[in-house]
Amino acid sequence: MSDSTTAASVGYLAPTRQVRIGDLRKKKATGEKWAMLTAYDYSTARALADGGVECLLVGDSAANVVFGYNQTQQISLDEMVYIAAAVVRGAGNALVIADLPFGTYEASDEQAVLSASEMMRRSGAAMVKIEGGVRIAPRIRALVNAGIPVCAHVGFTPQSVNALSGFKVQGRGDAAEQLLADVRAVAEAGADMVVLEMVPAEVAAKATAEVGISTIGIGAGPDTDAQVLVWHDMAAFPADGHRPKFARQWAQVGADLTAAAASYKREVAEGTFPATEHCF
Ligand code: KIV
Repeated sequence: MSDSTTAASVGYLAPTRQVRIGDLRKKKATGEKWAMLTAYDYSTARALADGGVECLLVGDSAANVVFGYNQTQQISLDEMVYIAAAVVRGAGNALVIADLPFGTYEASDEQAVLSASEMMRRSGAAMVKIEGGVRIAPRIRALVNAGIPVCAHVGFTPQSVNALSGFKVQGRGDAAEQLLADVRAVAEAGADMVVLEMVPAEVAAKATAEVGISTIGIGAGPDTDAQVLVWHDMAAFPADGHRPKFARQWAQVGADLTAAAASYKREVAEGTFPATEHCF
């Protein structure tokens, strides 16, 4: 990090000791908001943790932004484990949560515990995230009973994109009651936190006020306990990527990287790189 862009210079310091689940529980109690970003590799994890975000999520959005698959459902547990281990190595004091991918926890409590144990043992992540509300509550209970901390994910759940008929806001109108029931169910099952994705802001606010666990919003308005974004969406990477309505861009990483590659290519072609100072 250069002197001009230290986390301190933009107003925040990276946590000076390991962030633990208990620290985030306390923030719920005191009303202090906190931030989560996705990360998928060692160097990016280092950069984002240096920015002071309390939590890094190894999301199965890696299927799209890392592996270039069409669908989230295509990523395997093995692929997730490898990238999660890299993130843990770069995460500094940030808490690392890893998604269990589609098809690795839905069938039975036993399948969920085996998949989550493998993820935690091989990657060193501190918590797993699984998608679903009422229907997945028994899996959450089984994981918690096995000593595995859980982040739930309700509202729009990308692994169910086909069943949900596309990328749609969830919990609107009459569906708000089902959304609230999902949040209550995961909290009662023992989840430590819950992601609310693409949910009307007032429904997310109601859920946040009602449950004792941290709510983490993505397209869920300003009143959740925390926020999460896919880092590519908040840093405009790649330059021509789709930007969801709920994301703001704080950097132009895609455009900067493309410009850097073009300058490098030009200087190699012109013979101005390498220069004397790059030679032995
Ligand atoms: O996979 C992911 O990146 C996620 C976030 C969108 C919350 O689940």
